Amino acid sequence: MEQTLVLVKPDGVQRGLVGQIITRLERRGLKLIGMKFMQVTRELAASHYEAHVGKPFYEGLVDYITSSPVVAMVWEGKDGIQVVRTTMGATNAAVAAPGTIRGDFAVEIGRNLVHGSDGPESAAREIGLFFASDELVNWPREADRWIRE
Ligand code: RTP
Ligand code: MG
Repeated sequence: MEQTLVLVKPDGVQRGLVGQIITRLERRGLKLIGMKFMQVTRELAASHYEAHVGKPFYEGLVDYITSSPVVAMVWEGKDGIQVVRTTMGATNAAVAAPGTIRGDFAVEIGRNLVHGSDGPESAAREIGLFFASDELVNWPREADRWIRE
């Protein structure tokens, strides 16, 4: 089973879209195993976005993610990283497909509402940045047998 870090970014919180974003991940069949409401510090933002240091959008990205609280979550599922990313839609919300979170609720890359880890290594690294291991809950879900064969 794969775990992935999801953030509802400050625009998602400010626009009151937290519930709708969580609903989409829940109804897709992913399992929530950790969640917190928090303010991202510039230090945490720098660690989280270290792969983007030096890119033209980096300073704006750190300003954005630290501008207001976020909801940080860990979701789990078979192929969970890919399932989250297809649910989110393309990074540039202007071209994200309708039916995706970004394609339904956002219009540009710099205000694209959500983050999802892009691979197993970044998922493990990012989950470790946002959560202590005792903040993740391992729980059996009765519906699992109706979601996966
Ligand atoms: P995310 O990390 O947020 O899940 O999105 P992603 O993998 O699809 O995109 P990534 O390349 O990791 O970029 C991280 C975030 O940086 C902002 N960005 N702005 N103005 C730009 O050209 C630009 N490029 C990226 C977006 O907020 C993107 O989600
Ligand atoms: Mg990314």
